Amino acid sequence: MTTQPKKHHQPATNQPAKWSVAVRIFHWISALLLLITWVLITLHENNQGSYIDLHKAFGVSVLAWMVARVIGRLLSTDPAPLPAPTWQKLASSVVHVGLYVLLFAMPISGLLMSWYGGRAVDMFGIFEIPSMLEIDRVRARFFDNLHTEIIWPLLLTFTVIHLLAVVHHQFIKKDGILKRII
Ligand code: HEM
Ligand code: HEM
Repeated sequence: MTTQPKKHHQPATNQPAKWSVAVRIFHWISALLLLITWVLITLHENNQGSYIDLHKAFGVSVLAWMVARVIGRLLSTDPAPLPAPTWQKLASSVVHVGLYVLLFAMPISGLLMSWYGGRAVDMFGIFEIPSMLEIDRVRARFFDNLHTEIIWPLLLTFTVIHLLAVVHHQFIKKDGILKRII
């Protein structure tokens, strides 16, 4: 345990040393679902079979998981941020909030693309999410572009920044950041 020197701006509450078990579980399952969703569309785009239905079903699973994740996060007490310059603490918050927003935006734009295209989403053959909108090719194309050309590159960029920050903490500052999320 590190000793906490003077805390000017924080009340002397018992902030935990790591993220709550809910935040930790949500974090790793989200990352896994995101990885699977990406692998499926990559296989599909490389013509290695038709994985588009599975891409959509896992993508919708990300959305459902994120709804639960936000609730879990709101109910959890955050650990105190690791010692770092103010700009890094700020950057960390911006990237974390950005990742949350993008993990919603990605599946929502996908759903809107499908719905405006008049297509239902087959959830693993268990049930179907019917198309809830009138067919509109222009909007379908718009959300297709948003999904693949805007939101996806943003999500990738934020994820890379996130991973670089983790590597910096873990291996250069050696402040044991990984233990906070495992
Ligand atoms: C976190 C969730 C999601 C991620 C990370 C994701 C990621 C991607 C990526 C990277 C592509 C572009 C592949 C490429 O062109 O190289 C793509 C395409 C596509 N996605 Fe998603 N997606 C997600 C959710 C969804 C959902 C929920 C749906 C529909 C219900 C969906 C439907 C599609 C469709 C139809 C395409 C093909 C578009 C085209 O080829 O023009 N995606 N997705
Ligand atoms: C191998 C991949 C990953 C590693 C090693 C990793 C590592 C970490 C670590 C160490 C933390 C704790 C940061 C702290 O205590 O200040 C964290 C938090 C977080 N990570 Fe990751 N991460 C990974 C993938 C991802 C992905 C793919 C996303 C989202 C796209 C993500 C989103 C977040 C968010 C939003 C937080 C803040 C905690 C929360 O509010 O849920 N991580 N991650």
